Amino acid sequence: MQNTKQGTRGLKQILHRLYLLLDRRQKANFVLILCIMAVSAGLSQLTPKAMGWLTDDILAQERLEFRAVLPVLLFVLAVNVVNELIKIGRRLLVEDTATKTEKKARGLVLASLLKAPLSYFKENMTGNIHGRLNRCLEGTVKLEKLIFMDFAPAIFNSAAAILVIFTTLPVSLAAPMLLVIPIGTAIVLRQIATQKGIRVSLLETKAGMDGAIVELLNGIAVIRITDAAAQEEERFDGRSELLRSKEMHHHVQMAGYDSLKFVNQAVFTVLMIGMSVYLATKGVISAGDVLTAYLCFSQLLKPLEELHRILDELAESVLLAEDFFRLADIPNDFSYQPPLLKASVPEGPAGISLKDLWFSYEPEHPVLRGLELDLPPGTFLGVAGPSGCGKSSLIKALCRLEPYEGRIEIGGADLAGLTRQQIARLVALVPQEPFLIAGSIYENICYGLDRLPTPQEVEQAVQKACLAEFVESLPEKLDTPLAEGGGNLSGGQKQRIAIARVFLRQPRVLILDEATSALDNTTERRIQAEIEQLLKEQQMTILSIAHRLTTLRNCDQIIVMDQGQIVQSGRFQELVETEGVFRSMYYGRLK
Ligand SMILES: Nc1ncnc2c1ncn2[C@@H]1O[C@H](COP(=O)(O)OP(=O)(O)O)[C@@H](O)[C@H]1O
Ligand SMILES: [Mg+2]
Repeated sequence: MQNTKQGTRGLKQILHRLYLLLDRRQKANFVLILCIMAVSAGLSQLTPKAMGWLTDDILAQERLEFRAVLPVLLFVLAVNVVNELIKIGRRLLVEDTATKTEKKARGLVLASLLKAPLSYFKENMTGNIHGRLNRCLEGTVKLEKLIFMDFAPAIFNSAAAILVIFTTLPVSLAAPMLLVIPIGTAIVLRQIATQKGIRVSLLETKAGMDGAIVELLNGIAVIRITDAAAQEEERFDGRSELLRSKEMHHHVQMAGYDSLKFVNQAVFTVLMIGMSVYLATKGVISAGDVLTAYLCFSQLLKPLEELHRILDELAESVLLAEDFFRLADIPNDFSYQPPLLKASVPEGPAGISLKDLWFSYEPEHPVLRGLELDLPPGTFLGVAGPSGCGKSSLIKALCRLEPYEGRIEIGGADLAGLTRQQIARLVALVPQEPFLIAGSIYENICYGLDRLPTPQEVEQAVQKACLAEFVESLPEKLDTPLAEGGGNLSGGQKQRIAIARVFLRQPRVLILDEATSALDNTTERRIQAEIEQLLKEQQMTILSIAHRLTTLRNCDQIIVMDQGQIVQSGRFQELVETEGVFRSMYYGRLK
């Protein structure tokens, strides 16, 4: 009982939220759809009515004349044509609403995911989210269609049929006949309640079988070596048989309920015909009324037969629609919250300062431990340290991708007081694995730029990133399409595209996270020289993380990190000559 109440409340809430997704025109369309359903339900009852008139007419005539029947036939034809036409209209309106809802829902989920906290993606596998997204959108759309194509028309039609039955037959006969509905509904509800568990268990067993096959195929070599194929086949056959018998049990039960429903409908149909024929022989109703009442009664039974499917699918769609709202309701990442104290973006070159910076992915396990750093604008800082010491984590804090404790200032402005848009204008990052979209090289180079660059600018960026020769060699030059994720490029080519992007963007703080690691020495040196040129021309502040220490040869300053702390600081030559982490790494004693 408690569950049903909660379920109803959930359904109400979901329907309300779905309704809120619609725009004004669609809401107005609803009224139209309801009107169409009412009219269509009325029209559907006219054929039984006409058949009744026809029968009475035929019986009343001494000599049958087909010509006299013709107008009634034409009337029936016209009614049916009109009814089908407005049903097509209803269908188009429903499809219009459904496709628009799907589009809006997809957009909402994407917006929600794009702003979700990064931790969300650690907890939910990307493939999993993708599958969920598709299923829940499908379910949400199906819910709308079920309601407006199946459920509501069935209710309207039944109501109209009941109305006709009551106006055709005496109430004393019509009323008991309607008992077919509560009895039929009770059987369906009982069927749903008992079969619910079975459906879930069947799904689980099937998923388990899929898993078992994957497991078997993973171990194929071992199975072959131990010649265990026959044994595995037998074991699998056992599980298959279990599934089969479960399914069969389910089908037997379903058949039982279907028979009950059939008996219910058959008994009432026979009663209905018998009683109305009896009344006709007594002259209480006409022979035509017998036919009309019978035809309307069968219209009443049709939705009852479908009720089980409709309710079942409705329950499933509601669950999926709930999941859609769960995805759409993921709270935004902390960095999208409006800052408590707004900072203004500084003009001109910007330095970086870290004050007692702490950072952790899990409480109790700090990855950065009290970093202190002060970089004047135009500094070229190198960051070195063994793998896992916290270099990439420092970058995440600097780009405000993850929350940190302490203070980060860029150009004197508190990073925590800047909006994402402000940060994007100040800081650019070239990650180790560049993000490339399925588009042309041109689109990839201009990705994220909030202005249209001149062709000269793009050409210059291509030159500086040492891409010119490569682009020239392509038949479509800059318009050459890239596969998803740059699948048709080498690691070095991907990195050069990401670097060209930065040359166009000209941020005030540039962060390179092993951005040239996939380049050969000569290309790296050439690009490095171009980057250092930016430094001089624009007093850009650059933070370069490199595993290949020679990349840091020209840095103004290098900090060496170990276990989340800065353990050394100085220029390249000094560090090579001093005993410590850097020297050990340089001579290959530390990875
Ligand atoms: N997303 C993450 N969740 C939890 N721990 C992480 C995550 N990323 C990195 N770490 C851990 O934080 C530490 C520092 O990692 P990272 O900053 O990537 O090191 P580096 O870039 O210097 O190799 C490592 O111990 C690593 O295992
Ligand atoms: Mg790293």
